[in-house]
Amino acid sequence: MALYSEKVMDHFTNPRNVGKIENADGIGEVGNAKCGDIMKIYLKIENDIIVDVKFNTFGCGSAIASSSMATELIKGKPISEALTLTNKAVAEALDGLPAHKMHCSVLAEEAIRAAIKDYYDKNGIAYDKAEFPDPTDEDEHHIDED
Ligand code: FES
Repeated sequence: MALYSEKVMDHFTNPRNVGKIENADGIGEVGNAKCGDIMKIYLKIENDIIVDVKFNTFGCGSAIASSSMATELIKGKPISEALTLTNKAVAEALDGLPAHKMHCSVLAEEAIRAAIKDYYDKNGIAYDKAEFPDPTDEDEHHIDED
């Protein structure tokens, strides 16, 4: 059995939404200290809708495929929906990831949340802090934002 699904290979070799958005409304950067991989997500938001999203991932194939799929899943969606996106849903949309690669999909969930939090912070929008735990309080999945 192949280790990676066709969808993982497709999104790894032909990733969607790669790049950077100038004057992004929200930017989220997270990393995994163990493997050293870093993921950065840029959001363009209009009327609570994610009208554009781009990513830059310095990481493994699963992290790149997860970023690509996650951007596809939140593009054109309301912020509230993007906030419900879990790493499990990203992995499922990719037809699965090997167990030891599930942490790569966690980066995508976290980067999106970090970008939305950045958007809220920049615009003085109130939010429930419990929903956005301080990355520095957590373990290896995070690095500080700029
Ligand atoms: Fe680090 Fe995949 S091995 S994110």
